[in-house]
Amino acid sequence: MKRVIVALAAVAFATVAYADGAATYAAKCKMCHGAAGEGSKIHAQAIKGMKADVVLKTITEGKGKMKPVKIENAKEVAAFVAGLK
Ligand code: HEC
Repeated sequence: MKRVIVALAAVAFATVAYADGAATYAAKCKMCHGAAGEGSKIHAQAIKGMKADVVLKTITEGKGKMKPVKIENAKEVAAFVAGLK
């Protein structure tokens, strides 16, 4: 029984983390990279499906014209972006 509860808790946590990444993306990245990471002509390139470690590095260190973005859940956002198709 204990194991079942632990497994359920893990699934619930993973779902919450993913949702969180999506919400943060919408608030902090969408205006430049598009709702589904498809990029926007005015602001920035497509980033959907990029490797999570590259995305994470870009969030924390910035790159070229993009300044670092201060967010608590950068890892979740990176995972969310990597999962976009
Ligand atoms: C103000 C607009 C703006 C916002 C907001 C923004 N970006 Fe960017 N982003 C850019 C621009 C411009 C580039 C291109 C940088 C360059 O190469 O000069 C870029 C590049 C990137 C790249 C590509 C890096 C590479 O190696 O090619 C990734 C990944 C990325 N952004 C992720 C994100 C994520 C995730 C967020 C939200 C946390 C975000 N960006 C928010 C403008 C933005």
